[in-house]
Amino acid sequence: MPEQQQYIVVERDEPIAVVTINRPDKLNALNWGLVAELADQLEALDRDDAIRCIVLTGAGNKAFAAGADIAEMSNATPVQMATGSFQSWDRIRRIATPIIAAVGGYALGGGNELAMHADMIVASENAQFGQPEILIGVMPGAGGTQRLARTLGKFRAMEICLTARRVSAQEALDWGLVNRVVPEGQHVEEAKRLAQEVAKQAPVAVRFIKEAVLAAYETPLQDGLAYEKRLFALLFATEDQKEGMRAFLAKEKPTFQGR
Ligand code: CAA
Repeated sequence: MPEQQQYIVVERDEPIAVVTINRPDKLNALNWGLVAELADQLEALDRDDAIRCIVLTGAGNKAFAAGADIAEMSNATPVQMATGSFQSWDRIRRIATPIIAAVGGYALGGGNELAMHADMIVASENAQFGQPEILIGVMPGAGGTQRLARTLGKFRAMEICLTARRVSAQEALDWGLVNRVVPEGQHVEEAKRLAQEVAKQAPVAVRFIKEAVLAAYETPLQDGLAYEKRLFALLFATEDQKEGMRAFLAKEKPTFQGR
């Protein structure tokens, strides 16, 4: 049975879970309460050993999320903006379980930034990505300038943020912003398939891989390589390493326990 919060619906289908932003009448605009609830739910799933991969999507066929809630922000003070949801965004950034964003329709502003907090992105053909904050006199504030620059390079990031140009699903695929594009409406099913693929792998290795790839954004190459080497060696302390290699040599399928 799906578990319904005020803004978020969580559907567990072990070993995966689907988390849906459920505010379709406002195109899933991200108000502070919603982002906090999302962080709460993702953290709860992250603590749950039975859940190995999370799909994150938006309700309705028009939007993944059309950005931060402009009505809530319009009269906010700088202090309210600084405290409003940034802690929650940071909590989402720290989720160790892989997250796959399933994007249908608009992923704009904070919506695009949220999709970029995920580890893979599956887009429906009707997906549109963008950072339109410039049109309302502000700029991306939940990582848009940084993650776009690192993902697409300076020039495309500049164009997207400076002109509010929207990027189609196909362009996003060509530019390396999404993993795959599927016919309209099939993004959640495809993301679930991909999540099942991840979820059947050795769980400790999965978490270490996420940690190591994300570390590539934060560390010089030499430090990242040293970090990877330590995590790699540490996996030889797991039963799953023994089982994976035993099964390979015995020409059998491994059974991973997550320890
Ligand atoms: N905040 C609050 N409400 C929003 C919203 C948002 N970001 N996006 C859409 N809505 C609301 C609309 O106000 C409207 O509500 P009502 O029916 O009560 O009037 C409802 O959702 C449907 O939206 P539209 O009628 O506008 O739908 P449309 O199909 O005509 O247009 C759209 C769709 C082009 C996405 C348009 O809604 C739009 O431009 N939205 C704003 C996009 C935006 O600027 N996002 C960035 C926000 S700032 C940000 O995100 C900062 C950050 O970095 C964290």
